[in-house]
Amino acid sequence: MENFDICVIGGGPAGYVAALKSALNGMKIAVIEKDKLGGTCLNRGCIPTKVLYSKAKFLNSLKSGVSGFHIDKYNYNYEDIINYKDEVVSTLVSGVGKLLKARNVSVFNGAAFIVSAPDKKNNISGVIKIVIKSQENNNNNNNNNNKELEISASNIIVATGSSPAMIPAFHIDHNNIITSDEILNIKSIPKDIAIIGAGVIGCEFANIFNEFGSKVTMLELLPAILSTEDKEISKFTNKILASKDIEIRTSIEVDNISAGGKGAIVSLKTGEKIEAEKVLVSIGRILNTNNLGLKEIGVELDSKGKIKTDVHNETNIAGIYACGDIIDGPMLAHKASYDGIIASENIAGRKREKNYSVLPWSIYVNPPIGTIGLKEGDKELESIKYRVGRFSYGANGMALAMEEKEGFLKVLTEDETGKIIGATGIGADMPELIAEITAIMHFNGNIKDAEFTIHSHPTLSEIVPEAVLDSIGEAIHKYNPRMFKK
Ligand code: NAI
Repeated sequence: MENFDICVIGGGPAGYVAALKSALNGMKIAVIEKDKLGGTCLNRGCIPTKVLYSKAKFLNSLKSGVSGFHIDKYNYNYEDIINYKDEVVSTLVSGVGKLLKARNVSVFNGAAFIVSAPDKKNNISGVIKIVIKSQENNNNNNNNNNKELEISASNIIVATGSSPAMIPAFHIDHNNIITSDEILNIKSIPKDIAIIGAGVIGCEFANIFNEFGSKVTMLELLPAILSTEDKEISKFTNKILASKDIEIRTSIEVDNISAGGKGAIVSLKTGEKIEAEKVLVSIGRILNTNNLGLKEIGVELDSKGKIKTDVHNETNIAGIYACGDIIDGPMLAHKASYDGIIASENIAGRKREKNYSVLPWSIYVNPPIGTIGLKEGDKELESIKYRVGRFSYGANGMALAMEEKEGFLKVLTEDETGKIIGATGIGADMPELIAEITAIMHFNGNIKDAEFTIHSHPTLSEIVPEAVLDSIGEAIHKYNPRMFKK
């Protein structure tokens, strides 16, 4: 049986990054992936949606026009757009494969099951079984010809990710009632689409399909869309989406969904029925922690199936680590990769503790949203005295030149120290602006750090020091009546 220093289960952004980093650390690595390398992020998430997002954004500027241009005629072929998306995905997926190969990582294409845990005290490796589906079985579901193989490893990193949540009453048939997995592959734009759940996925697809001409209806259980975001951001996004004729219905309880009518029928608890060609169910994700042998070997999970880990991403069993969506923290690709690096570094003997307090995220509606650290409404702010600064895109030269007037950045600074403790905003390239604030926060920076960082002019990034300075009423390009009261 071949022995490895580390066996990584799952080849998504947590697993493949852990493998690449560990190979740099001089370890002998195996990666087991039952589907394609790159996981949800590359194949069914971040990357393919951003291809569709950027095409939708381009279409938006063609439709709404740019000053001085009169575009009488334009045309697109959605199937070509999907083909381009597939090209981008396959370039990135094969890139990951090439990097792993170049670092001598052994990649096994099969489903992993942990037979026994490593025994660190007695220096005994854990054993992992890999079930490799034969090509014939892919077609006829007959399991008899599956091949099995076993490897052993001194350490195991579990990085199996998450999948779209299913509710039996929603009868997801992967045809007309679909999840974010299938919606990326439909070859034509539906006339109408109902989206159940106005969270991150729901809003991103509402923006995309609305641009391409679908009549979009969003049905959200809670009283607001993007309910985990800052309230002002949620309202602002609602206003933008509604202004594009997206129908947003909040505090709605869906009873069931069934195939029929134009494609599918959504029945609400009130008895009302909504027909649509496609229904997208985007109500959250479930964790892929079953059928891995975790419970059998005694790995502790919480009541929701999350794997419990310590600050080093190690589970209760020495030598077994877990990373990404299946542990605590938000389900984000970059957080998963960070988790992978933390696990890899600890296995290499460099004790590194994880810290999610400076963890940014982005939501790609048009214009996009970016957030870092604390935001108004967070419980942690109840015990902190803080100030809020804001700056609008409409007052930034580059934003006007780009005809990107819509949006604002809001920054929170601690009263006593001037430390930047959070920021959120919506506007062109907001995720990139948030990257700057992330760096300042990473280095524990304060108002002066933002002020004395020289920003190239003209850039959208000039919004950052202005918003930060506005928290103490000192933004240069903003009139603040409070400062000049006689
Ligand atoms: P989510 O948790 O963001 O939103 C789900 C929404 O569905 C919530 O607003 C919830 O109230 C609503 N909901 C739940 N049950 C419902 C029901 N029965 N009827 C109507 N509404 C219902 O989950 P989502 O959008 O599925 O995304 C999953 C994860 O993927 C998120 O945690 C997110 O972090 C990640 N993601 C990140 C992206 C990014 O970073 N740009 C993009 C897409 C996803």
